[in-house]
Amino acid sequence: MPFLYSFPRYLSAKKTVDDRALNAHVWETLHQQMPEQPRILEIGAGIGTMVERLVEQRFISSASYTAIDSQVENIHTAQQRLAHLPESINLTLEAIDLFDFIQREHTKQQWDVLIAHAFLDLMDIPATLPPLFSLLKPGGLFYFSINFDGVTTLEPAIDPALDAQIEQLYHQTMDERVTEGQPSGDSRSGRHLFAHLREAGAQILAAGSSDWVVFAGEEGYPADEKYFLQFIMETMHRALAKNPALDEGLFSDWVAKRKAQIETGELVYIAHQLDFVGHAPD
Ligand SMILES: C[S@@+](CC[C@H](N)C(=O)[O-])C[C@H]1O[C@@H](n2cnc3c(N)ncnc32)[C@H](O)[C@@H]1O
Repeated sequence: MPFLYSFPRYLSAKKTVDDRALNAHVWETLHQQMPEQPRILEIGAGIGTMVERLVEQRFISSASYTAIDSQVENIHTAQQRLAHLPESINLTLEAIDLFDFIQREHTKQQWDVLIAHAFLDLMDIPATLPPLFSLLKPGGLFYFSINFDGVTTLEPAIDPALDAQIEQLYHQTMDERVTEGQPSGDSRSGRHLFAHLREAGAQILAAGSSDWVVFAGEEGYPADEKYFLQFIMETMHRALAKNPALDEGLFSDWVAKRKAQIETGELVYIAHQLDFVGHAPD
């Protein structure tokens, strides 16, 4: 099944959705705790929308910022997109897998701040947190935002029973995801992070919800958010296309109806997520 959508464009379209979603209390706590001239590491940074946001909102004016992502296409897009950051932001972009990066860097460098935005819910979190914290100075600051937490709502209903079954099966694909032989996902990552962070010896300073809420106003969906919704719908379609628990005909009819709702601006999409800020173990 060819995937016709561009991932960098999806990440760009996601920026305005994230801007509205980020938990204001957690975001303000990050601002208050941000050290002077920080050395920041962002993992799974995509096309660089978070460093843009931190500069735009004057959270950082002078910083060293390392952003890594495993997809070369994302890093190329980030290089173009971030070409005009102020010179006082010393930016390093690298296309590298997180675990290769950890292996290379954990005995060499330590950062003041670690950012993972819309990323940790793709990982085996309990196994990933200890090596991640080894990249931070003892007691360093972490900001883990947009961690999916078990609710995908699509309105208006098409068939409430089928809608509920599709939501449940979609979340199950997250719970059963395996990447390179390792479990890599949890549809309730947000709520589970409270315990996982405690077990890893971290201190949570603030936590709160950061739900995506996407709806069309009189002018349609804002910015490029129609594309964002089309991408999400195609992702659900691909995740469940061969699922034996779903009748193929009923499911493709459901997808066609959801896509039509996006075209008319009828579709409302809500995803429940949680943000965290805190200190790594001392
Ligand atoms: C949902 S996207 C979020 C990107 C970005 N943080 C944003 O919100 O715009 C997750 C990103 O993690 C990257 N990624 C996934 N697994 C990775 C790994 N093992 N190492 C590095 N990056 C990874 C993907 O390439 C993707 O860009």
